[in-house]
Amino acid sequence: MSEKQRVLSGVQPTGNLHLGNYLGAIRNWVEIQSKYDNFFCVVDLHAITVPHNPKTLANDTYTIAALYLACGIDLEYSTIFVQSHITAHSELTWLLNCITPLNWLERMIQFKEKALKQGENVSVGLLDYPVLMAADILLYDADKVPVGEDQKQHLELTRDIAARINDKFGKENEPVLKIPEPLIRTEGARVMSLTDGTKKMSKSDPSEMSRINLLDPPDLIQKKIKRCKTDPIKGLTFDDPERPECHNLLTLYQILSAKTKQEVALEGQDMGWGQFKPLLIEAVIETLKPIQDKYQEIMDDKNYLDSVLREGAAKAREVANCTLVRVKNALGYLPPL
Ligand code: TRP
Repeated sequence: MSEKQRVLSGVQPTGNLHLGNYLGAIRNWVEIQSKYDNFFCVVDLHAITVPHNPKTLANDTYTIAALYLACGIDLEYSTIFVQSHITAHSELTWLLNCITPLNWLERMIQFKEKALKQGENVSVGLLDYPVLMAADILLYDADKVPVGEDQKQHLELTRDIAARINDKFGKENEPVLKIPEPLIRTEGARVMSLTDGTKKMSKSDPSEMSRINLLDPPDLIQKKIKRCKTDPIKGLTFDDPERPECHNLLTLYQILSAKTKQEVALEGQDMGWGQFKPLLIEAVIETLKPIQDKYQEIMDDKNYLDSVLREGAAKAREVANCTLVRVKNALGYLPPL
């Protein structure tokens, strides 16, 4: 066993990633990756818990894997793989399903919200989404799971499921499953919507103008920032509760330009939006350009990308199958003959 702690996280192949996903999640994974043994998964089984498009699923899966690499996930420290390539995810989900009380799932906030949005066509899979996520995490004996605020309840559930398995089927000093910890960033990059400074930038916002996608071309980035919501006040300041958009755009600029808050506050204090927006546009384009170039290079070389995912799956499968056998043994199954 490697002495590094293990990290596991995943992104769904639905739509493409935006600046909030990058600054709030993937950039942090890149920063910490050398300290851990990392598994980064494209969670394509989760992608069908709401109605999906079979024509785009495979390509969206490639897109997320290529973006992982383009954002700087390094294969020296990290394993990149596709969830559906490892059958143990589905199989462990079934086993966990049978020990998870229904009411634990019915009270999940994200389920309630998504179910409300969908009306009548809610699938069993949507309810079961957190159990599949628990299987993702528990199969790899993950020590740490980097998650945002919105996924904390799912991680709590994962811990509860693991504890229940250990309690029912483990021996005194021999737990069946490792109980994972959340990895919460101390200083957060919470990127807000461009059309409403009080809401998080989100994939599910119906307005494309509310977010900057990592693959948006420069002219579209320019258009989105030019039209984003601001206020008529001259002189830009942080931390004014009356000016959430102003605070967010300055913060975004600060993160992207790697300046300190004081520097940006000084720079912006006498500026109007007409002066500031070109600076922000420039900073966003400059940050995304190397990612977009690398992404294109990788997507143009499918043989390479396939080999990354093939090798990733081989590594992941070995770890996952080992855990699956451990769980099946603990549950008392007759081993395959
Ligand atoms: N539910 C997570 C999200 O939407 C994605 C996810 C699936 C995940 N499996 C995971 C995240 C395991 C961390 C660990 O963001």
